[in-house]
Amino acid sequence: MQVVSVRVPAKVNIVLRVGPPRPDGFHDLVTVFHAVSLYDEITARSLGPPGDQVTVTADGPYAVATPVDDTNLAVRAVNALAAAAGIPAQAALTVHKRIPVAAGVAGGSADAAGALLACNELWGLGWSGARLAEVGATLGSDVPFALSGGTAIGTGRGEQLEPVSFRGELHWVLAVSAAELSTPHVYRRLDELRATASSSAATSRPAAGPERIAGRGVDARLLQALESADAPALGPLLANDLQDAAVDFRPALVDTLAAGRKAGALGGIVSGSGPTCLFLARDAAHAGEVAAALAASGTCATAEAVHGPAWPSFP
Ligand code: C5P
Repeated sequence: MQVVSVRVPAKVNIVLRVGPPRPDGFHDLVTVFHAVSLYDEITARSLGPPGDQVTVTADGPYAVATPVDDTNLAVRAVNALAAAAGIPAQAALTVHKRIPVAAGVAGGSADAAGALLACNELWGLGWSGARLAEVGATLGSDVPFALSGGTAIGTGRGEQLEPVSFRGELHWVLAVSAAELSTPHVYRRLDELRATASSSAATSRPAAGPERIAGRGVDARLLQALESADAPALGPLLANDLQDAAVDFRPALVDTLAAGRKAGALGGIVSGSGPTCLFLARDAAHAGEVAAALAASGTCATAEAVHGPAWPSFP
């Protein structure tokens, strides 16, 4: 096969609970990943010999913010897959970038997953999803989920996945910021905020980290609401432990969250490490209304109505 294209969706975290930092610098999570209908399209073309060569070009709305060198996560994915398979890394990649960059919706992970899925076909490897996920986990904590899509509980640093049974569809709005946020910086700020809170003698607030995450699964009410795609029940259960840290960097996100509530969203949180904000709507028409109100509010750069779950596909 000479050319393979794959569409890979963005992800949101319906719930994101974060434990304390681990010795390896990561944080244990309990999260519900959910892929939504905003896609990057990754195309891989064969390059003839000689030698290893992986190139990447980007087009689409977020092309300018996409690196087109060896730091691109899709390029790193192709190199990692070739190394794991013991074959030369040869591919020309094109990324049609519709998922915002450094925005808390796993756009880089989607591109890495797309590159793995595309080169698995292009090179005729025939590897299973589980085997691709092993390579994916070396590239980023969200890459295994990006390979599978749908809705899944993530534990460990996010790479251990258990699918969630889900009937129907949920409608969301992504309020995208013009600014970017660095994921490691947001995790570090969460640690700092928690350290400050627990060292404050006056506060009797329980520490937010280990106690909250120890032994916890995901709230049964949340799983029930997801199983029946019950948006009104789900709205108040959206939660993100990284939100305070993201807002600490970008205080204006408070206005975005307030604008979404005012527009009638059933719930709203910062998505992942931000700065994108995620709002739940009753149905597709309501999502369109909330997106229009958010776009008009001047509190975000763009607002996109999307639905989930979504999956990677070969168009
Ligand atoms: O895995 P990924 O490359 O997306 O992680 C980027 C950074 O985010 C990590 O280097 C780490 O600082 C932080 N992170 C974390 N705990 C996680 C996931 C990410 O601390 N579970």
